Amino acid sequence: MSNKLIAPSLLAADFANLQRDIELINESEADWFHIDIMDGVFVPNISFGMPVLKAITKHTKKFVDVHLMIVDPDRYIKDFADLGSNMLTVHYEACTHLHRSLQSIKQHGMQAGVALNPHTNVELLRDCITDIDMVCLMSVNPGFGGQHFIKRTYDKVKQLKALIEEEGASTKIEIDGGVTNKNAEKLVNIGADVLVAGSYVFKSEDPKQTIYDLKNLINK
Ligand code: DX5
Ligand code: ZN
Repeated sequence: MSNKLIAPSLLAADFANLQRDIELINESEADWFHIDIMDGVFVPNISFGMPVLKAITKHTKKFVDVHLMIVDPDRYIKDFADLGSNMLTVHYEACTHLHRSLQSIKQHGMQAGVALNPHTNVELLRDCITDIDMVCLMSVNPGFGGQHFIKRTYDKVKQLKALIEEEGASTKIEIDGGVTNKNAEKLVNIGADVLVAGSYVFKSEDPKQTIYDLKNLINK
């Protein structure tokens, strides 16, 4: 039986009611919390840092999926481990020594993810794919929630799925940006395992119901 996962992005939550929105995800059918960390350098936006993450992970009851949109992420790997991250995803474009970063993430007891910007070719991951627990394909330019899904992502999912199979890896594929009920089914049918959804969940009338429906849609 397929088990495709939903990871609501807290970036679209109401930060003035963060505990309420965390509880909402705790009680929902969501599988993971997706947490976006932006430094204002790698991406043209700043989200939040360690004190806020610490407050968040105190309340999360599900797998914590941290997406780092920061330069030189190696500096903070230990901190993210100490704060309770389960998956730590770094950007390919932000790592000079990606293989070393992946080893360090694992040595700190976390799963290791690599995110690719829309312009970055999946083939660049071939030489370390067996060391990567998850590839996060950005289906928008990172930095902001609420953007439109880039359709070229469908081809990238297919290419990445083929690459993973050719190399005998067990890497998961995550899609991040502009996910809705219009593209979710197609994405899982061609190989995606985890769908991040921010605005589509939190801007809906009933986020818990939206998560439930999305989860059913991708696990038919
Ligand atoms: C974008 C972030 C995404 C974002 C997704 O830089 O990495 O996780 O929160 O939000 P939506 O689903 O609104 O595109
Ligand atoms: Zn993200």
